Amino acid sequence: MECILAREGEQMRRSGWSRRDVINILDFSRSDLESLFELAGKISDRPNSIRRSLNEKIVATAFFEASTRTRLSFTTAALKLGGKVIDLSPEASSVMKGESLPDTVRMLESYSDLIVIRHPSEGAALLASEISESPVINGGDGSQHHPTQAMLDLFTITKLKGHIDGLNYAIVGDTRYARTAASLLYGLSKFKPKKVYLVSPESLQPRIEIKTKIDELGLRTEKLEDLEEIIPEIDVIYLTRIQKERFPDVMEYEKVRGSYEITRNLIVKAKRGSIVLHPLPRTNELPSEVDTLPNAAYMKQAEWGVPMRMAILELVIGGAKG
Ligand code: CP
Repeated sequence: MECILAREGEQMRRSGWSRRDVINILDFSRSDLESLFELAGKISDRPNSIRRSLNEKIVATAFFEASTRTRLSFTTAALKLGGKVIDLSPEASSVMKGESLPDTVRMLESYSDLIVIRHPSEGAALLASEISESPVINGGDGSQHHPTQAMLDLFTITKLKGHIDGLNYAIVGDTRYARTAASLLYGLSKFKPKKVYLVSPESLQPRIEIKTKIDELGLRTEKLEDLEEIIPEIDVIYLTRIQKERFPDVMEYEKVRGSYEITRNLIVKAKRGSIVLHPLPRTNELPSEVDTLPNAAYMKQAEWGVPMRMAILELVIGGAKG
């Protein structure tokens, strides 16, 4: 088994993942993503067959914004692959003395083989990738991109529904500021969904640059305010938290606060076999009463963050010369 994973990882690296930056899911082809899902699936199905392909390589995590899942799943993934992890805690670092992002990235590059960065500024991960010779993975930049979350979301859909094409999706909530929603829309545009409903109040509909991009890419979308109207048709319900921290004006946030909540009574009307996803963390849009329904898949989705990030690390730096 070990040999099978090693061989497949090597073939995929040769096919284009090796030492690649992961900044925007749009940079990856459908075939890149399908190869990734295949490897992540093998890792999650056969955890004992994993080779320690990071072989003491060092992963640096630099989270300038709070994170539980992204930071810790990358850390767990690196450790499971035999790597080591160093963590820059901005509040305990020379960032507090005014050190610039480029200088911080130069330090991380010189101490590690790969950098995972999260930053509140859009474009910060791209800037880091332009400075660093070591690969950079975007763990979220402002409200712009969260590519590895979208890879995980699409992987979860593949695992639970068998395929991504031909399904109806409802992306519910803050599609304006949630980078998870933007990256998922970009990721879906690599596939052939039947339709994607964007369910939110008008002020939380996608920003113009996101809508223009997905239109250009041919993704079929429809705006809607009420999930109940279409819930019997939907295969994948993807919820997002209202991103309070991204609103330029607190009054604008107050206008939409609590404007949607997915209750158990609503989810029981969903199509048989449909799944409910959420990148987490959740607030009151997804009450815990939904957790025991058979279509509540968000905890499994978070759990699969580890095999997904193991697959990414394996492909990008596993066995590769630093
Ligand atoms: N889904 C996600 O990005 O979670 P964290 O903010 O906890 O990393």
